[in-house]
Amino acid sequence: MYNKVFGDFPDELAWREQMYDRHRARDGFRLTLALDGDRLLGFAWGYRGERGQFWPDLVAETIPGIAAEWIGDHFEFVELAVEPTSRGDGLGGRLHDELLDGLTGKALLGTTSDGSDPAVRLYRSRGWRTLGMLDSDRQVMGVRLPLAGRS
Ligand SMILES: CC(C)(COP(=O)(O)OP(=O)(O)OC[C@H]1O[C@@H](n2cnc3c(N)ncnc32)[C@H](O)[C@@H]1OP(=O)(O)O)[C@@H](O)C(=O)NCCC(=O)NCCS
Repeated sequence: MYNKVFGDFPDELAWREQMYDRHRARDGFRLTLALDGDRLLGFAWGYRGERGQFWPDLVAETIPGIAAEWIGDHFEFVELAVEPTSRGDGLGGRLHDELLDGLTGKALLGTTSDGSDPAVRLYRSRGWRTLGMLDSDRQVMGVRLPLAGRS
């Protein structure tokens, strides 16, 4: 399902070896799944992010003004996806909320800069705000946990 939504790995083995196995070994890894029987409808995952990892270092170097406040011991919200035919029914929001449930402190994510994108709208509606731009197409968003009204 990952490739159906994001389409950026040649096959499942490459996805597993180059991304998923590395991510799930990280501190504080969390995974939330939406299942209909054994059919996967959606997923979200993240982990504790630290300086020394590729993405936090890239953010710190590109947007130095946010490093001290936001980077280090933050929760990194890495992926959120709902299968195309199951979208628009609240599943993405529930996966988002469940992944962050019980966490405190800072959370960060990288996403498109397109404010009309469904994911960006979802994040904004949950309190995430833009912290800066990685480039003209990609922004970094942050939120303080617990989410307001969702402790
Ligand atoms: C982003 C995504 C997970 C949303 O899943 P979903 O199940 O459709 O989301 P929900 O139905 O829970 O919607 C939650 C909120 O998202 C926003 N949203 C979702 N779909 C939207 C759309 N088509 N247009 C505008 N806003 C939308 C709304 O703010 C909505 O709030 P509402 O419930 O008050 O209307 C899904 O569109 C997806 O998998 N997209 C492709 C992958 C992706 O971009 N992931 C994020 C990578 S950073």
